Amino acid sequence: MVRIGGLLVVALAPFALAEAHTARSVQYHETRQTIPRRYSFTGAAPANHNLKLRFALKQSDPDGLIDALYDVSDPDSPKYGQHLSKSEVEKFVAPKPEAMAAVTSWLLQHNLSGTPLSPAGDWVGFELPVGQANDLFSANFSAFVDTSTGTEVVRTLAYALPAELQGHVDFVHPTVSFADPTATKSSTVVATRGNTAAANASVPAACINGTTPACLQSIYNIPSTPAVNKDNQLGVTGRQGGVAGYTFLETFLETLRPDIDPTTNFTVIGIDGGSNNQSLPSISEGNLDIQYTIGVATGVPVVYIFVGSQWQDGPEYQGWLDQANYLLSQENPPHVMTTSWGAYEETEFSQPVTERICQAYAQLGARGVSFLVASLDEGVGCSPANMTNFEATFPSNCPYVTSVGGTDQYDPEIAWFASSGGFTNYFPIPKYQQEVVSTWLAKYGSQNAGRYNASGRGFPDISALAVKYLVYEGFWLELAGTSAASPVIASMIALVNDRLRSVGKPPLGWLNPLLYSKKGIAALTDVVAGNSSITCTEDDVTPRGFDAVPGWDPVTGLGVPSFDSFLALAGL
Ligand SMILES: *[C@@H]1O[C@H](CO)[C@@H](O)[C@H](O)[C@H]1NC(C)=O
Ligand SMILES: *[C@@H]1O[C@H](CO)[C@@H](O)[C@H](O)[C@H]1NC(C)=O
Ligand SMILES: *[C@@H]1O[C@H](CO)[C@@H](O)[C@H](O)[C@H]1NC(C)=O
Ligand SMILES: *[C@@H]1O[C@H](CO)[C@@H](O)[C@H](O)[C@H]1NC(C)=O
Ligand SMILES: *[C@@H]1O[C@H](CO)[C@@H](O)[C@H](O)[C@H]1NC(C)=O
Ligand SMILES: *[C@@H]1O[C@H](CO)[C@@H](O)[C@H](O)[C@H]1NC(C)=O
Ligand SMILES: *[C@@H]1O[C@H](CO)[C@@H](O)[C@H](O)[C@H]1NC(C)=O
Ligand SMILES: *[C@@H]1O[C@H](CO)[C@@H](O)[C@H](O)[C@H]1NC(C)=O
Ligand SMILES: *[C@@H]1O[C@H](CO)[C@@H](O)[C@H](O)[C@H]1NC(C)=O
Repeated sequence: MVRIGGLLVVALAPFALAEAHTARSVQYHETRQTIPRRYSFTGAAPANHNLKLRFALKQSDPDGLIDALYDVSDPDSPKYGQHLSKSEVEKFVAPKPEAMAAVTSWLLQHNLSGTPLSPAGDWVGFELPVGQANDLFSANFSAFVDTSTGTEVVRTLAYALPAELQGHVDFVHPTVSFADPTATKSSTVVATRGNTAAANASVPAACINGTTPACLQSIYNIPSTPAVNKDNQLGVTGRQGGVAGYTFLETFLETLRPDIDPTTNFTVIGIDGGSNNQSLPSISEGNLDIQYTIGVATGVPVVYIFVGSQWQDGPEYQGWLDQANYLLSQENPPHVMTTSWGAYEETEFSQPVTERICQAYAQLGARGVSFLVASLDEGVGCSPANMTNFEATFPSNCPYVTSVGGTDQYDPEIAWFASSGGFTNYFPIPKYQQEVVSTWLAKYGSQNAGRYNASGRGFPDISALAVKYLVYEGFWLELAGTSAASPVIASMIALVNDRLRSVGKPPLGWLNPLLYSKKGIAALTDVVAGNSSITCTEDDVTPRGFDAVPGWDPVTGLGVPSFDSFLALAGL
């Protein structure tokens, strides 16, 4: 169940606040004891500095949304596949009329004008000067500078919610959260360390030159016949730096998909000023993601949803919420999304912020969207706090996405050394994975015990080949990363959805309850060898990691699919 909302902290002012408030106790809604290391306090913010804040309004029935999500996604449910419409989802998450009324009248009373920032109206933005914000929220908005980039932000270390808003507003943003605007990274790596394909592991003939669309078609039995439904879109997340070259795609297709039209193209949707501007500098992520969706999901219309850096949701959300709100605003969003970008969970995203984005993915799931994400390439993750604990990644920590890990070698596949996996501190274990994760904990949980949260959601959910991908960007590169695995699984799901649509059936939607069902587990090929193994510090003699073992594990999840196994799961 998603818990929304900041902690209600009752405390005496733990640090200096405006004079007027020091003498009496203030019931703070959220507080922060320390400033993150990266930031330093530079002084009071000018009283007339204009602040752009937003209320996260209490939603009508967030638990009802999750129940509805399970109802339409659990293959044993009578409502399986009966996805909700945009307006049906919005009924769960729209604020109650009394919450809306309380906020509207409070804004009016203070001569502020509110703007809805999400399709359901559960986010409302408003602007006001620092002086007024300090008065209204018993806050001390001050200037802080990010010492690594020189970027200045205005934040407060505590704030109270006006009495009229209590029970109607979950939190005010941005207030006590500080983030690293450079936190979101792509997960492609050029290095292929650990690609120690044991001399005697067999390499299928189609993979002799590396991993190509034909190789993937061969090992996963993916058809090369084109999809037929033009309204069955596959969405790919683009972000700053992820420009995908049009001419590169053409050469890639000419060389590696000679059986299809090399001018097969994709459409671009820009959010937050993003565009697939061919003259901007680029890293390989965009080319990889586009070449391995168009090159694998034959005939499926691909839309590149490119998030720029003019984030409306600010550095704490880094456009993630803007993208989710864009998808939620569409009557017909792509039914499959793949995202090869992410970040460490606790270092960069506060819990309430993470919960809100994750809940947006739950809304998309209820509408029949499969949201696939690369688990990232950090192995168990090294907690920046002390390099001892492991750290989960976002968005894989969200129970309502399908997290894709990586494998190495062709036949049989073994765990890829950098496949991110582990357990989140932010979300309790969801019911669909309780059984397999308990089994893993009972048998293997003592390895690295204490370094991870044994009550958190475990990830990844499934995996696919992550090594030796041939990508063209003016020259040929061999890339590795879960960044490659997620587009491949997404392409397979999109091709299955195409066939479902042709027989008048709904798309697969949120995959996890199906994947973790008995038939789902049976349909996947378990990965039982290899491990994740990364070093956290230079003194690390022994790499840290988990092993791929029989059953679910926090390296490769439930295992690797084949197209036939997905077809069978879809009842085709
Ligand atoms: C506001 O917060 C800053 C940083 O914590 C502190 O130095 C300053 O004294 C505070 N101002 C007031 C008026 O309490
Ligand atoms: C309310 O806001 C408007 C425009 O923002 C301003 O002209 C007006 O003086 C304000 N009224 C009060 C009572 O603050
Ligand atoms: C390679 O083959 C040898 C001999 O058949 C076998 O003992 C060994 O386990 C194999 N290694 C791997 C990594 O499969
Ligand atoms: C491997 O590359 C060679 C040289 O470009 C090419 O002739 C051959 O067809 C390729 N094989 C496969 C299976 O891609
Ligand atoms: C694909 O679309 C882009 C943007 O519209 C265009 O610049 C490019 O030439 C197209 N590529 C092909 C092969 O038609
Ligand atoms: C693309 O980027 C270049 C280089 O920064 C810039 O000059 C140009 O205006 C951009 N084009 C568009 C359409 O944004
Ligand atoms: C490492 O940091 C985590 C998170 O702050 C903390 O829970 C844990 O106790 C620390 N472990 C050690 C050995 O310092
Ligand atoms: C571990 O996960 C549980 C369940 O989500 C959570 O309640 C707890 O706070 C987490 N522990 C830490 C140290 O974050
Ligand atoms: C992890 O896997 C590598 C090969 O990929 C192997 O050399 C190493 O011994 C394994 N580590 C453990 C702890 O099993």
